[in-house]
Amino acid sequence: MSKVLFTPGPTNVPDFIREVLGRDLIHHRMADYHELLKEINEDLKVVFGTANDVLVLTSSGTGSMESTVVNLFSQGDSVLVINTGWFGKRFIEICQVYGLTVHELCYEWGNSYNIDEVENILDKFPEIKGVFVTYHETSTGVLNNLKPLGNLTRNRGCLLITDCISGMIVHEFHMDEWGVDCAVASSQKGFLLPPGLSFVALSDKAKDAMEQSSLPKYYWDYKKYFNSFNEKCEQPFTPAISIVVALKESLSYLLDKGVTTVVDEKRMLRRYAEEKLQELGFKLFIEDESIRGNALIPVIVPDGVDGKRLTSSIDERHNFTVAGGMGSYAGKMLRVGILSDITTKEIDLLVSYLKESLKDYKK
Ligand SMILES: Cc1ncc(COP(=O)(O)O)c(C=O)c1O
Repeated sequence: MSKVLFTPGPTNVPDFIREVLGRDLIHHRMADYHELLKEINEDLKVVFGTANDVLVLTSSGTGSMESTVVNLFSQGDSVLVINTGWFGKRFIEICQVYGLTVHELCYEWGNSYNIDEVENILDKFPEIKGVFVTYHETSTGVLNNLKPLGNLTRNRGCLLITDCISGMIVHEFHMDEWGVDCAVASSQKGFLLPPGLSFVALSDKAKDAMEQSSLPKYYWDYKKYFNSFNEKCEQPFTPAISIVVALKESLSYLLDKGVTTVVDEKRMLRRYAEEKLQELGFKLFIEDESIRGNALIPVIVPDGVDGKRLTSSIDERHNFTVAGGMGSYAGKMLRVGILSDITTKEIDLLVSYLKESLKDYKK
């Protein structure tokens, strides 16, 4: 049986996309590629909910996170990072590497941010030029509501930069309407593609900041990407062509289905899995349903159970891969990813395998 990935990325790549990935390469400086990238840009604009062009970088998610820092800021600029988990912390590390002055609002894992605290910091430090936040925090499953943040930053000289890497596709996202200035997403999550591509969109306000930025950059330089796209419908450097070709296929599939339908389906699957996992004795990690994301179900393993042994056992016996907890939750938490194109049937199978493995602990 083939591998089933219950991980919050990478996901299983559906057969119709795998077929495209195996096709002959086309050349990225020729007319057929130009046409393809143009169509992809239009589709990505719909996904991002923006009237602005969306750049396609050859990079994993972290590269695109770094690209936001080097393109929108200068050494010594003050920024605020809302840290609700592992990936929020990554933004802090990147900003510090580039010599930014970082204010941090750190929340206990499993919680979202407090808007009053964000507002207080922005009032106290009016020099803050950017607020970084993770839309869906993959280490905890928390979905951070972006709209109130957009309302706060919209009329200040401050950008809202969002890591939507695991949040995109499986949650509503309306970049322009919500006042988001920069959003990044990656191929290996809701897009059902292998890792290798990232997508970046900027508001007009962010493009103005890009003109002021003096941090060093070469491969990540957005201006090169915008110029190349505007002049020739190309990227400046050799892209991961096969994945770009497959991206068109995945976008057509997702947009034909409708992003709202995908979001509804994932919410339904999440609730279904939450119920089944609780019946097995797992405890939901996030109490407040309004901040639970649809990319994964974070659950605490029953007392006396080693989460690492549990996930290894169903991986070895059944080829079902489930992500474990990160940081101090390693061995104590499962993160049951539902980004792959799965149904309740696969969830039922997973639950039966978990049940079987849990029985081993009682022997
Ligand atoms: C929310 C979030 N941000 C950033 C990343 C890092 O992306 P990558 O591992 O593709 O560099 C991930 C990957 O899981 C993620 O889920």
